Amino acid sequence: MRRREFLQISAGSIAVTALRGIPQVPERPALRELAGAKNLLVGSAFSFAQMARPEMAALLAQQCSIMVCENELKWGPTQPERDRYEFEHADAMVVFAEAHGQKVRGHNLCWHQSNPAWLETTITPGNAAALLRQHILVVAGRYRGKIHSWDVVNEAIHLEDQNAGGLRNSVWLKNLGEGYIELAFRAAAEADPGAILTYNDFGMEHDAPDQERKRNAVLGLLRGLRARGAPVQALGIQSHLTAHLVPPRFHELHGFLKELGKMGLRVFITEMDVDDRDLPADVAKRDRMVAGLYRDYLRTVLAHDHVRAVLTWGLADRGTWLDAYHPRGDGQKKRPLPFDAELHAKPAFAAMCEAIAECPARSEERV
Ligand code: XIL
Repeated sequence: MRRREFLQISAGSIAVTALRGIPQVPERPALRELAGAKNLLVGSAFSFAQMARPEMAALLAQQCSIMVCENELKWGPTQPERDRYEFEHADAMVVFAEAHGQKVRGHNLCWHQSNPAWLETTITPGNAAALLRQHILVVAGRYRGKIHSWDVVNEAIHLEDQNAGGLRNSVWLKNLGEGYIELAFRAAAEADPGAILTYNDFGMEHDAPDQERKRNAVLGLLRGLRARGAPVQALGIQSHLTAHLVPPRFHELHGFLKELGKMGLRVFITEMDVDDRDLPADVAKRDRMVAGLYRDYLRTVLAHDHVRAVLTWGLADRGTWLDAYHPRGDGQKKRPLPFDAELHAKPAFAAMCEAIAECPARSEERV
């Protein structure tokens, strides 16, 4: 048996085990059912390791109608060497999602991080376009017809770098100039014309002057792409929120979302979590405040019809990237997600259920 076939079969049996292992909590509603009634997709990032844990897999299957690989489709894992691609984990994860009737987001085709070491040493202005195009044709081409939406370009704006248009000093900008973004979208459209091609970024959620500047830069980028006929169809708003003792506000987001709607773009909430680094250690208090942000934020975005999907960056606190990237000063684990480390639903889960249950149903699919 070829290794890929074996992995597909084992992902299938994980799926079956997962279904049998669904925790007995009949009173718990499933987000995917609440959202389905509103023509909305809801889900989470997941990893190959999480998929292999039956309890976690069961929870993902129970709650999510859309999934995204946390790392497995990034450049580093998919093209570890210039002439070698690796898809075993991503393939198995796509099989898992299909077995559970879930859609899959692809994340991502072009970023400044998680690139393989060889890329940084090999890339030149002369070969960069071919390297980027080939990677996209191979990766997005492999999953053609299976991906709901691709994050074609991730985090291309970084105002602090002070470039025209607010573009980030990435390996791509340095070697290709600003045209790399359009090149990536055109290659993705060629590779998988059915996927919704998305620009994904962070830092544009809160009411704050720097976030307003980021929103404007993102609008500028999207308008420029549209003006040149580039096939960009959606914006992914990552939604890594930060909780403070004084709750943040999201009023300015309404105007931004309206502008995106006027452009005919869909919006996906792609990586939601709430960083509790500035909240008190007391768990009950922290969970309440984190839930408050889930409620306020989701009420804001779900008031807009073109917001079509909500994904959190993981479903349960165990293993959250926030513990590795921005640990709490007091050494306690962060509690940014709707389920705790033992997979018990937290107040943030109830807040998600409420916000989804009370939002207007999405109109028919946008063209
Ligand atoms: C993070 C993953 O969660 C980590 O496991 C990995 O080490 C680094 O990347 N914005 C993104 C995601 O677009 O890809 C990042 O994911 C989190 C921030």
